[in-house]
Amino acid sequence: ALPKRVKIIEVGPRDGLQNEPQTIPADIKITLVDMLTQAGFANIEAAAFVSPKWVPQMATSSEVMHGIRRKPGTLYSALVPNQKGFDAALEAGVDEIVIFGAASEAFSQKNINCSIAESIARFRDVAQAAKEQKLRLRGAVSCALGCPYQGEVAADSVADVVARLRDLGCDEIDIADTIGVGTPRKVQTIFERASKEFPIERLSGHFHDTYGQALANIYASLEVGVLIFHASVAGLGGCPYAKGATGNVATEDVLYLMNGLGIETGIDLAQVVKAGQYISQHLGRLPASRAGNALAAR
Ligand code: HMG
Ligand code: MG
Repeated sequence: ALPKRVKIIEVGPRDGLQNEPQTIPADIKITLVDMLTQAGFANIEAAAFVSPKWVPQMATSSEVMHGIRRKPGTLYSALVPNQKGFDAALEAGVDEIVIFGAASEAFSQKNINCSIAESIARFRDVAQAAKEQKLRLRGAVSCALGCPYQGEVAADSVADVVARLRDLGCDEIDIADTIGVGTPRKVQTIFERASKEFPIERLSGHFHDTYGQALANIYASLEVGVLIFHASVAGLGGCPYAKGATGNVATEDVLYLMNGLGIETGIDLAQVVKAGQYISQHLGRLPASRAGNALAAR
């Protein structure tokens, strides 16, 4: 049976915007986050405290975090690769720290310049600091369905990283299809294997729509008990270290699916459509959301 309610984490302001070539002013990002807050998300990934040499677009993260109008009860998350990032995130008042590892050695090297084992060792300090500050801790497993550099990724490699992130104390762990190559049965296999290491209710599905499979993969995930999904308003996104990767699945499309299935999200689709139009206008293009564009045209 399908669940009655799911949690949708909006990742557009971070995963979505990190790949945009032109600098987006902090005040545009702040307005976007505020619109998303108003739409009802309980969790918004708003920033990344990473090296600005690696991801220039996220250099405004502190400004964004300080500028947004927070709603009590809404969690604002940020990616943090090391102690330097943690200090900045703490100062900016981040509610949830996201450590981000990969199931593929090659991607780990390209994305964070170290091996999987080294990344876990570095994350240990960040995880401990998060626990000391009583912040929520989330872990991401990139390339769980395939890697742009090494191709196939084994379910056991994914489960191994899930176990390591669990041991660091993660409250939630993301199974991420960074380059959108996964298909429904494979997604189910990965979740079933990962759930031997970590409770399925606290695993999330982070799907990119590069091959048009994201909604099918979300439905397949629902069938095996996944209750948390990431999505990006207007389908923003891509990953600077995964060439050809398009955006995350569009939030508007995911909400349309959940509404149709009678699954509660607590989020107002019409307001998300407006937020998608706002940021897309700024970027000078149409939202990459079928449902968003259809609803806006009505
Ligand atoms: P490095 O070059 O090996 O590290 O980078 P370093 O310690 O030698 O630092 C290099 C420079 O960066 C130094 O500055 C540091 O101070 C500075 P310099 O001395 O040369 O002037 N630096 C920092 N500055 C600000 N904040 C920091 C920070 N750390 C160092 N936290 C490092 C290693 C991990 C820092 C780098 O590789 C990095 O920042 N990588 C981030 C890459 C990234 O953000 N990728 C995108 C997110 S992952 C993703 O999108 C996937 C996901 O969505 C899930 C999915 O779809 O799969 C999560
Ligand atoms: Mg991503």
